[in-house]
Amino acid sequence: MKIIIKKLDSKFFNIFSLINYTFIDLTLLFNFYLNFKKSKLHLKGNFAYSDELKTLKSEGVIKIKKVYNSSTIKELEKEFDYLKDNFKNLSRAKIEAKINKKFLDEQFFSKGEKYYKRFLKNIQINDPFIKAPQLLKIALNQTFIDIAKNYFNTDHIYITGVNFRRSYFNHLPASDTQMYHRDRNSFKILKVFIYLNNVDEDIGPFQYVLKSHKKWPLLSNRKYRWDDDYIKKIYGSKSIFSATSSVGDVIIADTTGFHKGKNLNKRYRTMLTLNYSTFAEKESKKVKIKKFESYPFKISDEQKNILKYSSVET
Ligand SMILES: [Fe+2]
Repeated sequence: MKIIIKKLDSKFFNIFSLINYTFIDLTLLFNFYLNFKKSKLHLKGNFAYSDELKTLKSEGVIKIKKVYNSSTIKELEKEFDYLKDNFKNLSRAKIEAKINKKFLDEQFFSKGEKYYKRFLKNIQINDPFIKAPQLLKIALNQTFIDIAKNYFNTDHIYITGVNFRRSYFNHLPASDTQMYHRDRNSFKILKVFIYLNNVDEDIGPFQYVLKSHKKWPLLSNRKYRWDDDYIKKIYGSKSIFSATSSVGDVIIADTTGFHKGKNLNKRYRTMLTLNYSTFAEKESKKVKIKKFESYPFKISDEQKNILKYSSVET
């Protein structure tokens, strides 16, 4: 159903999409209030990021500088490079070039990254919290948890998604995630983006339409993906926040506002994305984790609860 509607709404003004997406928006809103457990927010002492939080609430996106030192990020990049060299570690990667193959197979893969990157927009590591256990420690970073708790104004927040991905520069047309859209997996959703390399305007920064998490035209529900011209017309070009960043910085955004990944003009961008929300995301696979005792660091009971919506590997 979702695929058919996406196909239709890319073609013409579609009343069915308008009804469908508006219905989804309302269902999410309804579920959000239905599931919302009124709990007092318990935070110890002064919250170090209260200014950032204010900006996040009003604009929908923030950049926090130097959260990690470069050696930590280098380690993560090394880990990505190591994992990506085994075909079994990759999620199914869609071939975007017009050739006689739909997905990256072992034959293409075996010719090396320099070869296969011409045919696809990105590759992803499957089950990142299992393949790279240290990523779970990053997801449980108290700063991210506290920001999410404050943003949603509840103690009941959960890790609802993770993505470990490298996007390539090539001459293929912009893919789905490179066009503006609003995530509709949850009424509100916070994503933490950690780039593993410096990202300037040519290396495909995450782009966000300021304040669009609060306000969007109802008619924008007639399509899922929008081009730059439409967004500029509705919100103005000054509303577009381009999250260029140096290694170690972290971007946090409420992706129920309009956003996209900018097309790359050179090299590649490797990025870890962590999702936080107040209940499980709709139409998304559960995040897979190992048994808690298999991780090389201690996971407290409170942290275990934050992973309530994940599935534990048996
Ligand atoms: Fe998105």
